[in-house]
Amino acid sequence: MAPEIDSLNAGRLPKSGEILDRAKQSLLSPIVTGPLRTPKNIPFIAKAQGSHVEDVDGHDYVDITMAYGPLILGHSHPVVVEAIERACRNGTVYAMAHEHEVRLAELMIDAIPCADRVAFCNSGTEATLHAMRIARAKTGRHKIAKFEGGYHGVHDYALVSSMLSDPTGPAEQPVSVPETPGIPQAVIDQVVTLSYGSQAALDTIRERAHELAAVIIEPVPSSYPVDIGDYLRELRRVTSECGVLLIFDEVITGFRLGYGGGQAHYDVTPDIATYGKVMGGGLPVGAVAGTLDAMQPAVGTGDMIQDRIEGKLLLIGTFSGNPLTSCAGAATLEYLRDHPEIYPRMEAMASRIKDEVHAFCREEGYDLRLIGLGSWFLPHFMEVEPKGPRDLRDTASYLKGSALGEYMRYHGVYASDLHIAFVSAVHTNEDVDRIVGAFQASLTDMRKEGIV
Ligand SMILES: Cc1ncc(COP(=O)(O)O)c(C=O)c1O
Repeated sequence: MAPEIDSLNAGRLPKSGEILDRAKQSLLSPIVTGPLRTPKNIPFIAKAQGSHVEDVDGHDYVDITMAYGPLILGHSHPVVVEAIERACRNGTVYAMAHEHEVRLAELMIDAIPCADRVAFCNSGTEATLHAMRIARAKTGRHKIAKFEGGYHGVHDYALVSSMLSDPTGPAEQPVSVPETPGIPQAVIDQVVTLSYGSQAALDTIRERAHELAAVIIEPVPSSYPVDIGDYLRELRRVTSECGVLLIFDEVITGFRLGYGGGQAHYDVTPDIATYGKVMGGGLPVGAVAGTLDAMQPAVGTGDMIQDRIEGKLLLIGTFSGNPLTSCAGAATLEYLRDHPEIYPRMEAMASRIKDEVHAFCREEGYDLRLIGLGSWFLPHFMEVEPKGPRDLRDTASYLKGSALGEYMRYHGVYASDLHIAFVSAVHTNEDVDRIVGAFQASLTDMRKEGIV
């Protein structure tokens, strides 16, 4: 049974309530992103600045969703706003060659160890779709191996045994299952699902190398955000030995786990890597980067007819590499490159939140754990220390986590239920005090209501 939380924010959000009624009549799903469980009383956001958002009813929140990751410099950072304003005075999209796209590509190549070449698209979903297709074209093999619980967007190959589908089959030999209806069995059959961090997964890659184009992995699993650096090194060794391409999905870790992302942090260089979120400066973006060798099927001549004749991969899109996103992205990357102190500062803030909340939970006997590293963490209610992503799949924990999001919003912190919380470069020590205070107040209230 879901905890009874619907009354919590009732009466506080009259204008939001009116918009929600309209949304139910106009949108397929009234809320596309956050909060994931769509409680009855959700704030509709009117504006945002820095680390704060304000709803249409005038409530201010410290934001720790940060749009699920992109806003590493916070909302409307002056450097990014200036770049966007300057760009849009000269046109928002050309679908013609322009220098801003080249500039963003150069910045990425300078930062990313595996990147000899970059191609832009409009989302992380598109990026992983292109990466998998390039790998299939490069190797002539069709199957893609992914890890159970690994999230790589919403195209058909990605939504197999992803973060919300029920784990199926033995822990060491998971069975590929679709995350939503509508995914053809023929696609599911092309996805080999592996268990995170296991020897069995490495054995499967060796055994099935002849049919595998690539293995895709998030350098920090979003469903279980812990350090898997040693495993990534092992994975690199095994995939290289077997001639299977290694794809790092750096949509979250890119420019967040450090300026060089997961691959620089762990000193493990994949063949191909996918990006989104941070590198778009808050505008829609995706990118695929890789070595010249791995990306060969997509390295074009610039002449699309010639590329068709040569059988090159089609990697195009009306808005891909548009000047607005390119300028916002380049401004963000230049700022991050020139302010390396941002990374340790964000990590220190995330650590303080985790440490202070955990200390409170120990003293008061709550089983909430904030699992994560770097500048992000995932709240979970677990009595025992989880050992892998399957341990985190507990419906009771999900329901409590969802209630926690609702209580946090009531206490002035916009935390997404069931999703990662992100600290940004512009969160302040006062914000951190408020976040810790909101966790404490929420847990206290939830205990009074018998939810935890
Ligand atoms: C690791 C990872 N890959 C891919 C995606 C898909 O990105 P987008 O939502 O931009 O399609 C996400 C989005 O959260 C992600 O976290």
